[in-house]
Amino acid sequence: MEELKRTTNCGALRKVDAGKNVILNGWIHRKRDHGGISFINLRDRYGITQVIVDQDAPRELVSLTAELRNEYCIAVEGSVRIRPDSMVNPEMSTGEIEVVACRLVILSRSELLPFQIGEESEAKEDLRLTYRYLDLRSEGMQKRIKLRNDVTFAVREWLIGQGFFEIETPTFIKSTPEGARDYLVPSRLYPGKFYALPQSPQLYKQILMVAGFDKYFQIARCYRDEDARGDRQPEFTQIDIEMSFVGRDDILAMLEGLLGYVFKKTLARELPAQFRRLTYDKAMELYGTDKPDCRFDMLLQDFGPYVAEGNCQAFKDALAAGDADKAAAAAKGITITGGGVKALVVPGKADYSRKQIEDLEAHAKIYKAKGLVWMKVAGTETAPILEGGISKFFGDRADNSLESNNNFGDRAQKNNAFKIISGLGAKPGDLILIVADSQRKIANTALGAVRSKLGRDLELCPSDHFEFVWIVDFPLFEYNEIENHWDAAHHMFSWPQDKYHATMEQDPGSVKGDLYDLVLNGYELASGSIRIHDPELQKRIFKIVGLDPAEAEQKFGFLIQAFKYGAPPHGGIAPGLDRLVMLMAGETSIKEVIAFPKNSFAINPMDDSPSEVEQKQLDELHLAIIHNNGDRA
Ligand code: AMO
Repeated sequence: MEELKRTTNCGALRKVDAGKNVILNGWIHRKRDHGGISFINLRDRYGITQVIVDQDAPRELVSLTAELRNEYCIAVEGSVRIRPDSMVNPEMSTGEIEVVACRLVILSRSELLPFQIGEESEAKEDLRLTYRYLDLRSEGMQKRIKLRNDVTFAVREWLIGQGFFEIETPTFIKSTPEGARDYLVPSRLYPGKFYALPQSPQLYKQILMVAGFDKYFQIARCYRDEDARGDRQPEFTQIDIEMSFVGRDDILAMLEGLLGYVFKKTLARELPAQFRRLTYDKAMELYGTDKPDCRFDMLLQDFGPYVAEGNCQAFKDALAAGDADKAAAAAKGITITGGGVKALVVPGKADYSRKQIEDLEAHAKIYKAKGLVWMKVAGTETAPILEGGISKFFGDRADNSLESNNNFGDRAQKNNAFKIISGLGAKPGDLILIVADSQRKIANTALGAVRSKLGRDLELCPSDHFEFVWIVDFPLFEYNEIENHWDAAHHMFSWPQDKYHATMEQDPGSVKGDLYDLVLNGYELASGSIRIHDPELQKRIFKIVGLDPAEAEQKFGFLIQAFKYGAPPHGGIAPGLDRLVMLMAGETSIKEVIAFPKNSFAINPMDDSPSEVEQKQLDELHLAIIHNNGDRA
C-alpha cells in the first residue's frame, strides 16, 4: 500500500491542481466506456473525482480497467487535467477537472451489489440494514453521519466552553422504574440478580449534583424496551444535562444558547435568542397536543360558546355529560376539565369531498373521537353563510330546504351563524371541522391529530423550517383510571411549583410541576425538570403516588440517602441527539441518522441480534428458557 497510498482525496482537486501528479484511493461509483475511453467516477467520503483511462494508456492499464466493476476498491495514479468547457460538471465540486490515469491497482473486488449505492432509498429497509456498510456508503447517509458528528462536536465544544464537565455514568445499573421497560443483564456472579441498562442517567446525574459537579453533561446511551416508532429506537442517545443552583429559566436559557450555537455552527442557521413558550394547558387547547407543530397556524378554537344558541343536540349532550363528570370528580377532590366542542377552520378547503372528510374523520376516531362533523363557509366576504354538514343546526330552522338553510331566514339563527363565522375568523371557501366530546381532552387530542394530518397533507410543514416551542407548566400528576391512583406525569423527582406545596395532597390533579419540554416541528426534542432536593417534599410525592416508604427505600434508597447530605437545588434536561439530528437533516425517521439502528421489530438484520446463545452461557447465568408452549430449553 505504501506506494499507492493516496496523496489527496476524491473531493479535493480543483482547476489550480492541473498538471499535478496524484494518487487517489476509493470506490468505483460508476464506470462508463465511451469510444474506447473509460470514465471512472471514483468515490470516497469527501466526494467523487472523474478518472479517465485513455485509449492510448498502457495495455495492462486498459485490461485492468476492463475488469473494474462498481464498488471495487482501487488505487489510481494519474495527472490532473482541466476538462474542456463542454465537459465541465457544475454539480460536482471536482467537476472542472479529471485525473488521467497512468497506473491502477485493484485493492479489493466487490461481489454483485444487492442495491446500487445512491439508490438505497429504493431498497427495502431490511435490505438496507442487512448491508448497512453499503447503505452507509451512500451520499445521503454519509452526509447525515457527518452532520451527527458535527452536532456532537459542537455540543461538546459549547458545553465544555460554558464550564460543564462530561462525566460518564454506568450502563449496568440497578433497575429503577422510569416509565418504560428495562433491558436486563443477568449477573453470573449473583444468580437470580440482574443489572438494568439505564433508560437515562437520571438518578446518577442528580447524585453528581449532590457530589458538587454543578454543571454536568454526557452524550449518554439510553436503553428502553418499548415499541419502535419513527422517532424511537430501543437504544438511543441523549445529550443529558444537569445543573445546580438554578431555576427553570436558567435551564431554558442554557439550552437556547446550546442549540443556537449548534445550528449556527453546523447548518449556518440563526435561531431566535429565545424560543416561544406555551403552557401545557394552552398547547392542548390550541394544538390538541403537547408536541405542537408550530410551522403552521390553523389553531383549534372553542366552539362551546356557539352551542347553546344552535340546535345540535349531540354538542349539547357532550357538554352536559362533561359538566356532570366534572362535578362528580370534584366531589372526589379530582380536578378534570369537563366536556369540549372544538373547531378547526381549514382555509380554502370548502371543496373537500365527502371522501376526504371521511378520511379525516377516520383519523380523528383513532384518537377516540366519536365523530368529526363539518360545515362549509359560502357566500361572500360581506355576506358569508354556513352550508352543508351540520350547518342546518346553526343556520335557518324555519324551513329545512337547502335554499333557506343557506339564506338564514330566521334572524336569531342567522345571527348565530354570523357570530360563528366571524368568531372563528372563517371566510367563504373555508371548511370548518368540529369534534365534540364529554372529555375535553379527547375533543382536543382528536382534532389536534386532524390538524397534524392536514399539516402533512397540505404540505404546510417544510422540513427546512425549524419552529421551536417550550411547553411549560405540565401537570405533575395524572390519574391512573385503571389502577385508581395518581401517577407522576414525568418522573417522581420533579419539583411541584411552589404555589401548590401547601395544598398538593387535597387536589393533586391541579398541581403544576416545574417541568418543561422543548418541541421542534411537532416532535418532543427534549424533556426536563427542576428536581426535588428536599427529602420531606420527596416523601410527600411518594405518598401521593402511593409508594410506601419501604418500597421507595428499596427502589430509590441510594438517591434518598444521598439527598440527606446537603443536596443542592438542581434541575436538568435531556434533548434526544438522534431526534435533533433527524430534524436538522429534514428526515422523519431516526434510523436515517444512526449508523447501525434496529429495525421496527428491534432486530439488527446485519448481525442478526438478538440471537440465541449457547446452553453453556445460559447455565453460567443460571437461566433457563421457557418456550411459548411451556417447554424448557
Ligand atoms: P425523556 O424520557 O423525556 O426524559 O427523554 C428525553 C428525550 O430523549 C429522547 N428519547 C428518545 N429518542 C429515541 N428513542 C427513544 N426510545 C427515546 N426516548 C426518549 C427524546 C426525549 O425528549 N431523564 C429524563 C430527562 C430529564 O428529566 O433530564 C428523560 O430521560 O428526544
